[in-house]
Amino acid sequence: MMERPFTYRDNLLHVEDVALDSIARRAGTPCFVYSANGILGRYRAYDRAFGEQPHKVCYAVKANGNLAILGLLARAGAGFDIVSGGELFRVLKAGGASENVVFSGVGKTAEEVEYALEKGIHTFNCESETELSLIDALAARLGTRARISLRVNPDVDAATHPKISTGLREHKFGIDIHEAEEIYQRARWHQHLELEGVSCHIGSQLLKPEPLLDALDRVLSLVDRLRAKGIAIQHLDLGGGLGVPYRPTDDPPSIADYVARLKARTSHRNLKVMVEPGRSLVAESGVLLSRVLYRKVNAGKEFIILDAAMNDLIRPSLYEAHHEILPVKRDAGRGTVKADVVGPVCETGDYLALDREMANVLPGDLVAVATTGAYSFVMSSNYNARPRASEIMVAGNGWRVVRQRETFDDLVRGEMV
Ligand code: LLP
Repeated sequence: MMERPFTYRDNLLHVEDVALDSIARRAGTPCFVYSANGILGRYRAYDRAFGEQPHKVCYAVKANGNLAILGLLARAGAGFDIVSGGELFRVLKAGGASENVVFSGVGKTAEEVEYALEKGIHTFNCESETELSLIDALAARLGTRARISLRVNPDVDAATHPKISTGLREHKFGIDIHEAEEIYQRARWHQHLELEGVSCHIGSQLLKPEPLLDALDRVLSLVDRLRAKGIAIQHLDLGGGLGVPYRPTDDPPSIADYVARLKARTSHRNLKVMVEPGRSLVAESGVLLSRVLYRKVNAGKEFIILDAAMNDLIRPSLYEAHHEILPVKRDAGRGTVKADVVGPVCETGDYLALDREMANVLPGDLVAVATTGAYSFVMSSNYNARPRASEIMVAGNGWRVVRQRETFDDLVRGEMV
């Protein structure tokens, strides 16, 4: 397993070489703290595992679009998987190159397609025949040609939480793999499309590689059939999906093992292989740092009330997701407590953990909600008029704020009485 960027030194939780309490003192809480080397290490694990095989690792921007993270990955040579015009804007702003961008998503608007065509992105991963026609028409108007993949739905069960599973026939995503051949055939008549690739993405937080490999086998046989018909498929985009250990007992395949298994199936086929990892690049390199405000007992039940809430991290409420909650100062003498860990938002559903056996933290103590580098800040909101948390990047023994905490003025920007 890859080294974790968060470790205890003298019972004090550190990110790389920086103690979290020193960040809290200067930057306040709640805040997200990321490890630059943790993120880079995981990107390089993908990149190195592919080795000589033609490949591109396209970071799924939706997992965490902070400019500092995008910039870090762009400089390391990553490509990007985007799902909106806003994400393309972020990538370009961070110094990413448009020719390394793939555009996924089931509902691209004409404005977004035009923007992406003007910037000259690598590929559109298309999800319907009408979308193909739209891209063709807009490319014609701009006097250009668009590189296209069809996102096919291989109909495999990703065996993950239903809200983050995408690869079954009845889902809204992709095109039924059995209809794909005919659609590719018809798409050849579009003069402003280049049919270069096939793509798929079956779901997220997969702890076993088998569904991903099953999907790959089905997509490879489609590639063979398309090539036999004279459609010169050059790349295969397998999407994201590799899971991370949210619980100490979770045991996902390592990035190196997963890529080795992809390579074993693809290296002899004259195909460029692309992947779109989001979570597995960034989740483990982030924590949500928060302070305990109160303790209380209601009807015999212990509550730990934090200054972070569901508006900062909605995954527990939305997906029953588990995030470890670690004391920033470890003190064995304090013992443990079984408690609901909740925030200040006025909803019963506002919790970060339920019935959790954890360190017996007291008001004023700091806690780190672990594995929150992915799908955490990006899904945060201003609910209850709570300014969004700041974001901080650590590298070695240095750190800096990479997104300021929102102010009350930020809360009302654009509104009028
Ligand atoms: N490519 C496509 C087309 C996707 O839809 C996704 C994720 C990815 C790549 C990246 O997948 P990853 O490597 O991160 O598993 N908010 C949810 C996760 C939603 C994932 C949506 N699609 C969560 O917090 O668990």
